[in-house]
Amino acid sequence: MSLSVIVLAAGQGTRMKSDLPKVLHPISGQPMLYYVIEAAKTLSDDITVILFHQAKRIETAVRARFSDVKFKIQDHARYPGTGGAVMNIETMHDKVLVLNGDMPLVTSESLEPLILCDADIVMSVFDLDNPSGYGRVVIENGEVMAIVEEKDCTKEQKKIKTVNAGVYLFKKEVLDRYLPLLSNDNAQAEYYLTDIVKMAREDGLHIKPVWVDETSFKGVNSRYDLANAEELMQDRIKEKWMRNGVTMHLPSTIYIDSRAVFEGDCTLDNGVTIHGETIITHSHIRSHTVVEDADIKNSTCGPMARIRPGSIIEDSHIGNFVEVKKSHLKRVKAGHLSYLGDATIDEGTNIGAGTITCNYDGIGKHKTFIGKNVFIGSDTQLVAPVKIEDDVIIAAGSTVTEDIQKGSLAISRTPQKIVENFFYKYFSKKSVK
Ligand code: UD1
Ligand code: MG
Repeated sequence: MSLSVIVLAAGQGTRMKSDLPKVLHPISGQPMLYYVIEAAKTLSDDITVILFHQAKRIETAVRARFSDVKFKIQDHARYPGTGGAVMNIETMHDKVLVLNGDMPLVTSESLEPLILCDADIVMSVFDLDNPSGYGRVVIENGEVMAIVEEKDCTKEQKKIKTVNAGVYLFKKEVLDRYLPLLSNDNAQAEYYLTDIVKMAREDGLHIKPVWVDETSFKGVNSRYDLANAEELMQDRIKEKWMRNGVTMHLPSTIYIDSRAVFEGDCTLDNGVTIHGETIITHSHIRSHTVVEDADIKNSTCGPMARIRPGSIIEDSHIGNFVEVKKSHLKRVKAGHLSYLGDATIDEGTNIGAGTITCNYDGIGKHKTFIGKNVFIGSDTQLVAPVKIEDDVIIAAGSTVTEDIQKGSLAISRTPQKIVENFFYKYFSKKSVK
């Protein structure tokens, strides 16, 4: 498509009250700027991100994910404001779409009506009962006459309910002609991109408003807005996966990262949290289980299990209060109260309640290998590095410090002693008849 995109991301984001640049605040697992660039990429092969505050940090974050995006540092000292932001940018195509880096809910579908509209300037608008904070849009006979920033509004203009959503499609020649004519003679002493509209209108150019879906064009200015945007993003993510065959019980209590993927028939019970690049295939994740960057196939996990990064769980059952980290489990049952870290556990093995892999010695992490058909009794500690071959039984309460050969029983516990009638002597009581 012959369209260039400019993403405005030079603002300070003061209202976030954060050291992290606003556009890098995460929503459903990813910086909000990623969503905007993602939408832009489906529309254009020429994307420029405008930076100023913490420019290096934002550039590094964007480059980590997108290789073909250009960056431009705004001359903020001399030309502050949204108009200053788009000055002197070389774009490849005749049409230029201007997006804001703090609009994470924008999608290529929501931008389509703007792109399809033919005019010298197309601008996004919506109607609000409470328009405060937005630039008001003066429309006459279907044409935009002017955009007036709230701080510059007269009393009458403040009553206008149609507001500027902040996304525009310009003919490149319009930008080239009017950007040098902008002035900063306004309440904020900034160069307003929106002032182009008035000048263009006075020269008889066509400026069309396009009413857009408010949700998709919501800007994030505070952490309250961030939370609202994340809620809306979650609704989208969940709707997509439900339509793809994932059952969710009480979806409002479930959190799913935008990078997570589901395949086949899956069920998520209430309170489930899925972080990171998790892949879940044909599995049931039960209540209040937390999964992060893991791969779960044909398995049930939870309730209240924690599956941490680097775990691969296949054809297995993971029960309550079991924590798995960087471990590969294949046809394994670990029903209750265990920690399995840096372990490889093979088919047919049963992990008793309270089994702990002692993978950390205070200096480094060590691996535990457990073979096929191993029966591990409850409350066993496996001190890594350690290898347990196939067909082994480990007695309950054992501390395993040595490798165990195929077919063996391992038992390590203090022998039991019986002292008869000790209770009665100790408490000076008589036996109950
Ligand atoms: C802008 C519009 C307003 C509209 C509102 C919608 C102007 C003058 N006003 O106001 O009509 O209703 O958006 O949200 O454009 N930015 C830069 N460089 C700067 C200043 C801002 O890149 O020097 C970027 C910001 O990072 C942000 C975007 O431009 O992504 C919008 O800036 P912001 O300060 O939020 O503008 P508003 O006052 O909200
Ligand atoms: Mg804004």
